[in-house]
Amino acid sequence: MSYTPLSTGIHADPTRRHWALVTAQSTYAFGVTDNGLLMHLYWGPRLVSLADLPPAELKPERSSQEPALAKATEEYPPFGGLRYGETAAKVTFADGTRELDLRFATAEITVRDDLPAILVTLQDAAYPLTVQLCYKVDGENDLVIRSATFTSEANETIRIERAFSAVWHLPRQYAPRTLTTLAGQWLGETRLQQRSLVAGTALIESRRGITGATANPWFAIESTSETATEIYFGALAWSGNWVIRATTDVTGATAVAGGIHEHDFSWLLQSGESFTTPEFVAGFAQDGLNGTRRRLHRYTREQVLPKPQALQPRPVLYNSWEATFFDVTEEGQRKLAERAARLGVELFVVDDGWFPARVNDHAGLGDWRPDPVKFPRGLKPLSEYVKSLDMQFGLWVEPEMVNADSDLYRAHPDWIYHFPTRPRSEARNQLVLNMARADVQAYLIEVLDKLVAENGIDFLKWDMNRPISEPGWSDEIERGGEAREIWVRHALGVYAVMDALRANHPDLIIESCSSGGSRADLGILRRTDQIWTSDNTNPEARLFIQEGFSLVFPARVMVAWVTDQGRGLLPVAYRCHVSMLGTLGIGGNLLHWNDEEMNEVADWITIYKEIRPLVQDGDQYWLLSPHATHGEVAAVEYVTTEESVVFAFRRADLFGEPLPRLRLLKLQPEASYRVEILGQNDSVSYQASGAELMGYGLSLPFKRGPFASCIVRLRKQ
Ligand code: GLA
Repeated sequence: MSYTPLSTGIHADPTRRHWALVTAQSTYAFGVTDNGLLMHLYWGPRLVSLADLPPAELKPERSSQEPALAKATEEYPPFGGLRYGETAAKVTFADGTRELDLRFATAEITVRDDLPAILVTLQDAAYPLTVQLCYKVDGENDLVIRSATFTSEANETIRIERAFSAVWHLPRQYAPRTLTTLAGQWLGETRLQQRSLVAGTALIESRRGITGATANPWFAIESTSETATEIYFGALAWSGNWVIRATTDVTGATAVAGGIHEHDFSWLLQSGESFTTPEFVAGFAQDGLNGTRRRLHRYTREQVLPKPQALQPRPVLYNSWEATFFDVTEEGQRKLAERAARLGVELFVVDDGWFPARVNDHAGLGDWRPDPVKFPRGLKPLSEYVKSLDMQFGLWVEPEMVNADSDLYRAHPDWIYHFPTRPRSEARNQLVLNMARADVQAYLIEVLDKLVAENGIDFLKWDMNRPISEPGWSDEIERGGEAREIWVRHALGVYAVMDALRANHPDLIIESCSSGGSRADLGILRRTDQIWTSDNTNPEARLFIQEGFSLVFPARVMVAWVTDQGRGLLPVAYRCHVSMLGTLGIGGNLLHWNDEEMNEVADWITIYKEIRPLVQDGDQYWLLSPHATHGEVAAVEYVTTEESVVFAFRRADLFGEPLPRLRLLKLQPEASYRVEILGQNDSVSYQASGAELMGYGLSLPFKRGPFASCIVRLRKQ
């Protein structure tokens, strides 16, 4: 006898009260115990039958110090009873009771955001509070997307003190596990970190009010044994304070819990109100970090990024920041625009410095109108000129901020986060607007709407250059509200303003920036189209930053400029090739570039436009990591069914040794490919089978010396 495997989607066994979320290569399952606890049952390689699942039951108490509940793998463990592991939820009821007792009530299989979904409602045993767990299933990408909604049916206020998005249980196993995370700081975001998971807790977080660069809300946990190489990975879709904790016990079980950070968090749920957590997407892969990359990229392109922009190519942009800094004038920008148009740039962006009093970073933030000194005729003539050169027009803004020296702050000193009795800490001479306030949101929507509509703006670079401090909101406390909601309400306020702006201007493109890549997450990507990866535009550093960034985000989201960093030291081609790994931009002072440089960059832009569909929407595989590979070579391949393109970089050539051949991935073995290698000043082409390119590999045509690079185009014949 053999089984008929369960199809992709959600399956129920009503008798046993078991549910299985089946994807192309994985199964995720949970069930209900006799006394109504929702237990995690399984997550791993795809199972064929619901009968494969173990019963949902509490294991007997091992000792009085290890009660059954403490070891249970509950799907959404609340604070309450004999639980001492990760808890997902904690509340205080009006009578002072500080425990939750969540029991299974209903399960409904449905569709959410065009994906199969199951909604599991848990009901507190004594109080009128429900927590509904939502699981969406991206079957093709082996992903489960979780969130939780708290609803008060009570005629009283419930204080939520922790509301995580999910707890993910990884099975107990023999093989040790390695945790990979992304850490960084300004000028050095998304750098790979790896550590062994031993008994205890590994934690990554942000307590800055934004996603932050210290860590990115993403994890991958990998293990390799004699029988399998497996990775569990996930990413939080949230742009405020967040935490992800991976807790391992001495028996080899790991639980990953995450969501809105409980640090200084509290939310008052009034009668009839609901509170929904951000989504936490996670998956299972048996094909390495490249496999996790491919799944998250496809999911982000298909499910997260706003449409129609997600279906359109991201334009090659020019940004004036590194060329002029605050020295922005209509005449200067016109000259840069003419040079940018000559290169083949499609979108011209004026960065910081265009609004009143903005001669340095001490004044002006908040007053979002053109500086009458620098732009006596307003921005419209520049915008029209840029369009006459066949480019779109973009502008930098930092809507959440004010300088104390601004008209906005002088008019509304109460609009920023502060405690009346404390000093207001400035960072980069600026203060943060209280985005929780409805009047602040309404004001920003009005001002930005007008700016976009009146000046023909196609693109906004939305910056956020400092963390939140003094998180007070005295008006709200006077109203009997909870000021500690601001950590969540700030992000929701930003989302609301962006959503309103996009609704009014459906073709607008928004780039998320926060001193570089400090606000890079799947939450902001629901309403922005791309991310400024890092203020570090040095190609050497960028390879490392971009490798890490690409573990979470697809290439179309990763903006990379060719600037004057490395100019004269690194070959023009090398600088272009590094930036061509994502959404290509130019950011140098073009008035200083000679004809030879202009022509060479223009040629690479032409090639970029040809391969753009592959780079921006193909599957991405890092063939060689820049981290200490033999020969200092890094290589990335982008693949669709008909074509491939490979970028290879040799960062140093210390020993003049011959290099191994580079073996490619995901070609069709029997197909014949036209291989065209574009070096720094030369090109070669030949014919080869997919099998040869994947098995024997291709020879990298690097000349002696550091900073060699090439692009290899492979087209199926
Ligand atoms: C931040 C951004 C930069 C630039 C400046 C302008 O640092 O990351 O790209 O826009 O602000 O002040």
